[in-house]
Amino acid sequence: VDCRDLLLGFASRADAHALAAMARDLIETGLPWTYRADRIARMIGSDESIALVAREGARPVAFAIMSFGDERAHLVLLAVQPSHQRRGVGRRMLDWLQDSASVAGVASWHVELRADNHRAFRLYRTMGFAETFRVPGYYSGRETAVRMVKVLRAPGTAPAIVWQPPAIDAR
Ligand SMILES: CC(C)(COP(=O)(O)OP(=O)(O)OC[C@H]1O[C@@H](n2cnc3c(N)ncnc32)[C@H](O)[C@@H]1OP(=O)(O)O)[C@@H](O)C(=O)NCCC(=O)NCCS
Repeated sequence: VDCRDLLLGFASRADAHALAAMARDLIETGLPWTYRADRIARMIGSDESIALVAREGARPVAFAIMSFGDERAHLVLLAVQPSHQRRGVGRRMLDWLQDSASVAGVASWHVELRADNHRAFRLYRTMGFAETFRVPGYYSGRETAVRMVKVLRAPGTAPAIVWQPPAIDAR
């Protein structure tokens, strides 16, 4: 399957169970399951987050959730089913979220990941994230988190894009 054959769209509350199962199996593997369906459903319904799903037919095969405030956005969850990994799906979802964050005027985009997650680390590096620092014991007191950030614009300044009325073609 080409990643462009997958349909990318906003998640609905009906997706919450499927996404929570992906969080448990693909992201929180070996750790307590904290992103359960009710928590995911709240994020799907929130004005302060964007939840994306990539579907093959009706079946979710990947998802990403980003929360944002005025200056900062946070990539909360990202997962692609193993059958669909390494085909650009993760990257495509991140591109979408980055465009949304930029349009919203967000200054910086943050993510943290488990220190042994080399695939995700490489993906974020490819996307232009840089490592800031490590937090030992961040995950259930057991595992180190790596924090990464991508600067989208200088903080405190207005977004660079200024709307201009279309020029009237005088002839
Ligand atoms: C991390 C994850 C989301 C990547 O999704 P994906 O759709 O497979 O990633 P993409 O195909 O868009 O890959 C983009 C780039 O990331 C890097 N990358 C992704 N998977 C990789 C792998 N297995 N080995 C090396 N690099 C990898 C590469 O730079 C890749 O670019 P390339 O294929 O042109 O070399 C996916 O592996 C996943 O769901 N893992 C389990 C859940 C998880 O770790 N989530 C992140 C929690 S913070």
